[in-house]
Amino acid sequence: MKILGIDTSCDDTCVALLEIRNLTTAHSQWAGSPSPKFRAAAKFDIKSNVVSSQVKLHAKYGGVYPFLAKREHQKNLPAVFKKATKEIDVFKIDLVGVTIGPGLEPCLWQGVNFAKELAKKFTLQIIPVNHVEAHIYANFLNYVPRQRNLFPAICLVVSGGHTQLILMKNHGQYKILGETRDDAAGECFDKAARILGLSYPGGPIISKLAKKINNGSPTSIILPRPMIYQKNYDFSFSGLKTAVLYDFRSRSSKIRKSKEYIRSMCAEIQQATIDVLIKKTLKAAKDFKVKSIILGGGVAANDELRKQFSRKLKSKKIPSSSPSLWSSVIENCKLNFLVPPKNLCTDNAAMVAVTAYFRREEATKNWQKIKVNANLKI
Ligand code: KG4
Ligand code: ZN
Repeated sequence: MKILGIDTSCDDTCVALLEIRNLTTAHSQWAGSPSPKFRAAAKFDIKSNVVSSQVKLHAKYGGVYPFLAKREHQKNLPAVFKKATKEIDVFKIDLVGVTIGPGLEPCLWQGVNFAKELAKKFTLQIIPVNHVEAHIYANFLNYVPRQRNLFPAICLVVSGGHTQLILMKNHGQYKILGETRDDAAGECFDKAARILGLSYPGGPIISKLAKKINNGSPTSIILPRPMIYQKNYDFSFSGLKTAVLYDFRSRSSKIRKSKEYIRSMCAEIQQATIDVLIKKTLKAAKDFKVKSIILGGGVAANDELRKQFSRKLKSKKIPSSSPSLWSSVIENCKLNFLVPPKNLCTDNAAMVAVTAYFRREEATKNWQKIKVNANLKI
């Protein structure tokens, strides 16, 4: 089976081709699943995963301009599709999965309309995909098949547009436990980077500069850890960004420009964010007695977040093992820890294609009726 994935929810034009081969149920990672539709085991082969980034275009604004992004998607989609499908006969595609939300509405329509054109031309069915669910399913692309039940799981989806803690009871069954009340964590990285005069997107550059602090020694700057001790599972990151702004303004121009100050600030922004994310995720994992913690979204590509999460879990005597290059799984009988490889944390269409596979029963010939929903909830 070949599934084409399309995502144009934000500023990346993404098209991927996923080949799925069925495995025997004996080796099925889904063998314990109560739902027959998830019982068939599969091996996923990412044939192509093309991401055309608009970062350079939006960098000068320090954020994404929806109508500029929409125009770029329209311009880029045919070439990105061609590149993603160059190795195969497009008539061999079985299904198209496309992100319908959440995201920027004018951008989402570009992907959906493109999927509809393909459906018409090649007589295909379309599966509408939720972008947040796709960030979670990025983990299943390379998860080594084993007879282990992962559910219930706590999913932390943390990106430029979302910061959500989700209880995943089984495939396709979710409950949002908490989310950000204002800025997403990635958005906070992006805005803080802009205040400090750093490039867009902020997450990767903040992470890089934070590494240059000598041996991770504590910095003299102390930023707040918003809502860290509150009993709920919500987040708030706009106060953190404001604290960065106030500190920056209170410094002389000489200090503001110094490498030492910028690096210390980056390390503290990163640590404040990590402290809140880890504390709330572990609290949710404990409160709901889950079997797994699953990360997803652009911020999950952060090295320090990955490291500190696994350190925290290991310190509870969870042996680590890395069964594949693609995903790191820390496991014991109590808790699995899944985080996608870094390139599958940030926006891509392979994650959309794999989600479409798990929702293949929802494929519709009635694709003319598919609409986008910028505020779609999982
Ligand atoms: O998932 P994604 O590509 O798009 C959305 O769905 O929003 O996430 C993009 C976000 C940006 O805010 C970016 O600054 C952040 O992810 N990001 C990172 C890292 N790489 C990307 N944040 C922290 N550390 C990183 N290494
Ligand atoms: Zn995303």
